[in-house]
Amino acid sequence: MKSVAVIGCTGSIGSQTLDVLSRHQDVFDVRLITCFRNISKAKENALIFPNVRIATHDNSQESLFNQDMMVGDQAIIDFIITNHIQIVVIASSSIETTSLVHSILPYVDKVAISSKEVIIVTGSLGLVSSEWKEKVLPVDSEHAAIHQLLRYAERETIQQVVLTASGGPFYSQQPVPDLTHITPSLALKHPTWQMGKKVTIDSATLVNKGIELLEAHYLFDLPPEMLQVVIHPQSIIHAMLQFKDGSTLSQMAYPDMRLPIAYALFYPERTDLPYITPIDTQAFPMCSFVHKQASDIPVVALALECLRESGLSPIWYVLTDEIAVEAFLNQKIRFVQIADFLRYSIEKLPTLYSVRSLSIDQKGISIFIHDVRQNIQRLLIQFKKQVA
Ligand SMILES: NC(=O)c1ccc[n+]([C@@H]2O[C@H](COP(=O)([O-])OP(=O)(O)OC[C@H]3O[C@@H](n4cnc5c(N)ncnc54)[C@H](OP(=O)(O)O)[C@@H]3O)[C@@H](O)[C@H]2O)c1
Repeated sequence: MKSVAVIGCTGSIGSQTLDVLSRHQDVFDVRLITCFRNISKAKENALIFPNVRIATHDNSQESLFNQDMMVGDQAIIDFIITNHIQIVVIASSSIETTSLVHSILPYVDKVAISSKEVIIVTGSLGLVSSEWKEKVLPVDSEHAAIHQLLRYAERETIQQVVLTASGGPFYSQQPVPDLTHITPSLALKHPTWQMGKKVTIDSATLVNKGIELLEAHYLFDLPPEMLQVVIHPQSIIHAMLQFKDGSTLSQMAYPDMRLPIAYALFYPERTDLPYITPIDTQAFPMCSFVHKQASDIPVVALALECLRESGLSPIWYVLTDEIAVEAFLNQKIRFVQIADFLRYSIEKLPTLYSVRSLSIDQKGISIFIHDVRQNIQRLLIQFKKQVA
């Protein structure tokens, strides 16, 4: 039996992780599940697992101590370490989880991470250690696909790594509809995936693919010139490796996050997953590509620019997007202004931080993120004044 903790059990990835774990209770012993505010859902989730404890990351909920709940990141970290938890799944949408990941890393066997932002902050701050490389596994369909494909490839034989993008509700259409009056409810209707709000909006703007390129760079040491994006509306092909000899290898599956979750949980083994529907070769789904390359998609091209720039730019990209998405959901900016604000904010970065001289260790991550957020919030106010 392997002991498991699920950080962020109440969200889309967290719930699907618990679904997978509940089907393999002979292999995994779920010892801890955490949430932020959705205590009732966490308690409901706990009913499935006999040995589980519940915790919230929200320090303001101290009254919950009385209800046998752990409160705060430090209590969660202490529980994982003292109980020798072997596998930790990071399904939280919060960038703050980065510090927690680094605190537990030396004590666990494996960390399966869906939180793209955690990977980017770690990579961008130069905190990818050999231990990180050995223990961290991606829980993202494209990156799980790349991880699988790389098991069958010699690095020097690869020409390009292609990530597919569904295109979300708008870019999957040809021609792309007029985006001037897109409301949050329209942007939240994803054609192929059921996900949390933030990542759904990111899919609609295509910023998600920019974020995923950054993620792929830090996870697999892939230089920007090897990374490519193509829009593939059916979300059947998740990634492709193109070899120098002209051959292309792809990973395919119907869109179901339980597959990359199970892949990470069981890795390096593969096991029977009867609840995953394999692709029906008798009724093979249509697979098409929209002729768009990374360089044709401005927000994706901007992510590649950030990667070439390196330093703080990748963190700045993800945190600017986080603030822009929140502003859009609260109807403070328009849909198309998410991309405009990203460009505006990135251009201001060099004047705000002396990037190269910055050195942040693991302990300083949260303070640093707080500081960056405050600066970006100020930029948003300036941006709104300019476009008003
Ligand atoms: N959904 C997908 O299909 C998918 C695919 C690939 C990658 N991802 C990535 O996976 C991550 C989670 O996505 P999601 O769609 O599952 O998001 P989600 O449905 O919005 O769930 C977010 C989870 O994070 C918790 N959380 C919120 N604020 C927190 C904080 N400050 N500290 C700790 N935990 C906090 C939430 O707890 P409460 O519910 O209690 O607030 C919830 O459990 C994101 O980084 C996303 O980009 C998602």
